[in-house]
Amino acid sequence: MNHFLDIHKTDPAALRGMIDAARSVKDARRGKPKGARDADQPLAGHMVALIFEKPSTRTRISFDVGVRQLGGESMVLSGADMQLGHGETIADTARVLSRYVDLIMIRTFEEQTLLEMAEHATVPVINGLTNRTHPCQIMADVMTFEEHRGPIAGKKVVWTGDGNNVCASFLHAAGQFGFDFTFTGPATLDPEDEFVGLARKSGVTVQIERDPMKAVAGADLVVTDTWVSMHDSQSSRERRHNQLRPYQVNAALMAAAKPDALFMHCLPAHRDDEATSAVMDGPQSVIFDEAENRLHAQKAILRWCLGV
Ligand code: CP
Ligand code: NVA
Repeated sequence: MNHFLDIHKTDPAALRGMIDAARSVKDARRGKPKGARDADQPLAGHMVALIFEKPSTRTRISFDVGVRQLGGESMVLSGADMQLGHGETIADTARVLSRYVDLIMIRTFEEQTLLEMAEHATVPVINGLTNRTHPCQIMADVMTFEEHRGPIAGKKVVWTGDGNNVCASFLHAAGQFGFDFTFTGPATLDPEDEFVGLARKSGVTVQIERDPMKAVAGADLVVTDTWVSMHDSQSSRERRHNQLRPYQVNAALMAAAKPDALFMHCLPAHRDDEATSAVMDGPQSVIFDEAENRLHAQKAILRWCLGV
């Protein structure tokens, strides 16, 4: 069963195949209206369930559109409206859904929910974000980097801010795609040791540097994300803002990276908190390419999961 649960759980050759497939399908669609179907219709006759226990704009719409462009059908479901949100077990939900649909994509809180869904489903399951990781985002980000700058292998990626779920998937990708990774942020918000350890074990350099200006020296890519994630308590907001303010991506920080460094943010952003609008809208920013590439990368993920 080809579940897409995390980047480090997926074979590097399969990951490379998905990035390359995503780029060809994007090229083939140039100039077509968004509603046009792809020349290939590998999802014809397939039904996909998209379950959300947290809000979403990009994940929800890009998966929905992607399935349709590939000839399939999708249903967007809110976890709260399903019996899942009212006490039915994840295992039973997985078994029932597997009788109706060909693939399940789920955005949830606890990683355990995703893992139980995958364990009990008899159809592929895709991770659309948990509190711990966000692999579909980083597939789009690797694709985006390579479109602009060529192979990501051997490059230096710097994450500044909160060592959160998106940062974790970047660390997984560092190991699988072979790029170096530097984290800069306050010690209390470091990425989990498990993620750092896994990347280091794969042979890439992972550094933790408290000084953001030093961290970005030689960076090919500077990445950040919101200071308060969907699973973080609102009561931690002020403390997080105070701790993270020195790690804002602004013109001075970008000037300390390589002159051709790219800037990424998975969005949604809180403009002028984690990154200034000048950087987000500036020449080094590729944030809307990242958002678009969610569509193309996920089509490749869907096809790999279904083997079509
Ligand atoms: N980047 C991302 O996953 O966005 P959404 O929360 O809008 O899906
Ligand atoms: N770290 C953010 C990513 C949103 C796409 C969150 O989990 O809220």
